[in-house]
Amino acid sequence: MSEGTFGNPEIIEVETDILLVGGGMAACGAAFEAKRWAGDDLKITLVDKAAMDRSGAVAMGLSAINTYLGDNSPEDYCRMVSADLMGITRDDLVYDVGRHVDGTVHLFEEWGLPVWKSKETEGVALADGGKPVRSGKWQIMINGEGYKTIVSEAAKKSIGIENVMERVFIVKLLLDANEDNRIAGAVGLSVREHKLYVFKANTILNVAGGCVNIFRPRSMGEGMGRTWYPVWNAGSTYAMAAEVGAELTMMENRFVPARFKDGYGPVGAWFLLFKSKATNGFGEDYMTKNADMLKDFAPYDTAAVIPTCLRNHAMLKEMKDGRGPIFMDTPTAMAKLSETMTPQEVKHLEAEAWEDFLDMCIGQAGHWAGMNIRPEETKSELMPTEPYLLGSHSGCCGIWVSGPSDIAPAEWQWGYNRMTTVNGLFTAGDGVGASGHKFSSGSHTEGRIAGKEMVRFCKDHADFKPALKGDIHAIAEEIYLPVRNYFEHKDKTTAEDVNPFYITPKMFQMRLQKYMDEYVAGTSTYYQTNKVMLEIGLDHLRMLKEDSKNLRAKDLHELMRAWENYHRLWAAESHLRHILFREETRYPGFFYRTDFPNLDEENWKCFVNSRHDPETGEWEMKKVPHKDLVEKTYGGQAH
Ligand code: ADX
Repeated sequence: MSEGTFGNPEIIEVETDILLVGGGMAACGAAFEAKRWAGDDLKITLVDKAAMDRSGAVAMGLSAINTYLGDNSPEDYCRMVSADLMGITRDDLVYDVGRHVDGTVHLFEEWGLPVWKSKETEGVALADGGKPVRSGKWQIMINGEGYKTIVSEAAKKSIGIENVMERVFIVKLLLDANEDNRIAGAVGLSVREHKLYVFKANTILNVAGGCVNIFRPRSMGEGMGRTWYPVWNAGSTYAMAAEVGAELTMMENRFVPARFKDGYGPVGAWFLLFKSKATNGFGEDYMTKNADMLKDFAPYDTAAVIPTCLRNHAMLKEMKDGRGPIFMDTPTAMAKLSETMTPQEVKHLEAEAWEDFLDMCIGQAGHWAGMNIRPEETKSELMPTEPYLLGSHSGCCGIWVSGPSDIAPAEWQWGYNRMTTVNGLFTAGDGVGASGHKFSSGSHTEGRIAGKEMVRFCKDHADFKPALKGDIHAIAEEIYLPVRNYFEHKDKTTAEDVNPFYITPKMFQMRLQKYMDEYVAGTSTYYQTNKVMLEIGLDHLRMLKEDSKNLRAKDLHELMRAWENYHRLWAAESHLRHILFREETRYPGFFYRTDFPNLDEENWKCFVNSRHDPETGEWEMKKVPHKDLVEKTYGGQAH
């Protein structure tokens, strides 16, 4: 391939009313719902960097839907989410998901998703009174290997396959030239053809998932494709929002899941359905043993379900004190369950233990097989993973959005539900901050909420004519700079990956991961950091940003990798800045500010919001008052 054919992409303009950036659960929900309200009045276009059938966090499938309320109330859901996230969540957003999420799950079932049912209601749909098999108070079991294909099929069918563009990676969002703080378009590269797409839109949904691989992962070598959250979630949602000046919230929050070691297999079914216990290396239940230690983080230590970070905190104590490894005691759990079972039922139970992984984390089943592990005979090691940034699972970082008009207080709403602080720019799923525990069903629900509001926005702003800020040819040059870097310098060394004039996306990512790991509370410091470390880390990231101009791309795949890692850098920087700003340890077990090791309810029971000014390039950080809209009780005490 020569620079002549590769270096000058064809520029293709696409005009649309609604642009959906992403193809995961939230995007699918938005596509489905927007079409319902727009009919044929508006053009809806969905752009996914991969193939929608298997893209996003649910790509591999799931064995459970973690948010189905059933007999629980949305108020109770708000309490659970708040407790798990140490008291700082937006009740308006959480309530809104809670009140609509079951309807979404009923749609999934209607579209063909098999949901496990109790014996008494076998074959009866949830919507008709079927009782799900619950693994926990909020979770229900499914046969979910094909979950994403089912949900994506419905989305494609709604908006029409001709409006779905796959294999196009959005690099940046574009503001309007005439109206201040108004979204107008986006630009993206095809990862298959030498084409650059320039979109003009009235409204855009930014739903490109969370952020993985900003921290040095525990996996190495060929195993580096294994992480818990999907490797392809590159922080694009947070980066692209920040670049156009959208306010972010709670970017200090992260998720460190405790997972089956090396395979990253899910633990939910084991803890909740199989009632398994986790122990230290000597068989001691570390949750009971370290219960007193959690009192330092009252009142959250007495929540109905101990917050995820505090469970990690108790686990890390054992690891730090040299009493590892941590085990999931699968043999005891299975022996207990089989006490009252027929041999046939025991076989079925063993099959389910494997199916739990085969439905959603096939690599873990491969790992068990490869390591000669039989769960009924052998314990498995658990390990807290490298940190991830996300807003849909047990984390709550993301973008600050307008809430639902009927419940959000005045300061939390500015016109359109799930619109960011940039006019016309919406988000959902991993993009919405301060409201975790949506999981797959909640993300789809939130996409639906946003999709409906985007139609309303479009109709209210029917006269808007997007005029893109910036010269599109200059933007094309900027996006293809890594290609020019490669062609200009590739012959200056004999090994083309080793070159003083450019940096490969892979090496760039490793450098980022090393900084984040060592200075920003990664695994190598047992998730600990302090002001001095953070300031050094920030300086390193500043220099890395300078070096991003030297990224190289020798093909379209690498060009996408280059920009993904640029997005990772932005997400990482915002995470660091927020951790630096919040002077307390709000999420012990996820990370520790060793210079402020305590929870400080008086000074820090608040949101932290940040904004990057697109004009000046400066970051502004601020505290935003927190409010409980639903009364909170932890351990019976009102708060
Ligand atoms: S998954 O997302 O990778 O599938 P997993 O299967 O572990 O995660 O399930 C996560 C769900 O189980 C979440 O709803 C989480 O809150 C819940 N969960 C996991 N471990 C526990 C535990 N020890 N106690 C209570 N709830 C738990």
